[in-house]
Amino acid sequence: MTGDIRHFINLPDIGADTLKGIIKHAHALKAEKFQPPQIMEGLSLAMVFDKLSTRTRVSFDVAMKQLGGHTIVMSKGEMQFGGAESIESTAKVLSRYVDCIMVRMSDDDKLLELAKYSDVPVINGMTDKSHPCQIMADIMTIEEKLGSAQGKKIAWFGDYNNVCQSYIDASAIFDFDFIMALPEDLNDNVPSGVSFTNDAKIAAKNADVLVTDTWVSLGQEGKDIQKFLPYQVNSELMTLANDGAIFMHCLPIHEWEEVSEAVAKSPASVIYDEAENRLHAQKAILAWCLDGAGVKLR
Ligand code: CP
Ligand code: NVA
Repeated sequence: MTGDIRHFINLPDIGADTLKGIIKHAHALKAEKFQPPQIMEGLSLAMVFDKLSTRTRVSFDVAMKQLGGHTIVMSKGEMQFGGAESIESTAKVLSRYVDCIMVRMSDDDKLLELAKYSDVPVINGMTDKSHPCQIMADIMTIEEKLGSAQGKKIAWFGDYNNVCQSYIDASAIFDFDFIMALPEDLNDNVPSGVSFTNDAKIAAKNADVLVTDTWVSLGQEGKDIQKFLPYQVNSELMTLANDGAIFMHCLPIHEWEEVSEAVAKSPASVIYDEAENRLHAQKAILAWCLDGAGVKLR
């Protein structure tokens, strides 16, 4: 590949118009889901994981294959990377074989280093700091259910984590009000300029979207969750929200910690549409990455 490489690393790097265009394309690809255009014919995607995954792994794999492309999945322990071979060497070698690399890697700096040395687009499939592909699917879901994210009140409950950070990034781009409800001792973790409260009811009041994620992200096993208990999204919080408010969660849920079973299984819960939309959003992200310099989609 020659020329500018379209990496998909973090939302603020990409530009609002481009991101909105990718989501518009995702809606179009969803409408064509039973006759997907064969735009990835002859192209290959490598997927590298140093953490567990169900949705990211399967949705990227199926997305690429439905569009006519090929995939190879490599997990930690199955490749030289992480052992003697450097990130630079790994990136350069993979670039000679495949047209795009999707990486789920704990360490943000390692992902950036891989992108630096890669000659093909690199997609962030989640680090400890961000999860931009998830938020693209979430915005798509909000648009389906509520028309638009613009001007909506989106309330986040529980931990400040990678998914939360990508919501914060998205709030400026898609122009929604974002408020976090979290335990007091995490106040210092909240990035400057972001609205937050220690009272879950304040966050839930008149919210259009209530969103949460596990209190124990991958790599944090054994963490004490006591302080998060007042931030469970339950029926009491949902009744404070606006009429028609939706509940979202990237999954997997730690049953029934961060959300009650009643809310997760209620009509307001859109968690499985959200999970499906990973597939369509990923197709559009792949198309944007690969429609860049040197590789023209058919
Ligand atoms: N939501 C999400 O990224 O799920 P996985 O960890 O299963 O990929
Ligand atoms: N915050 C979670 C998201 C999983 C999709 C984690 O990092 O494990």
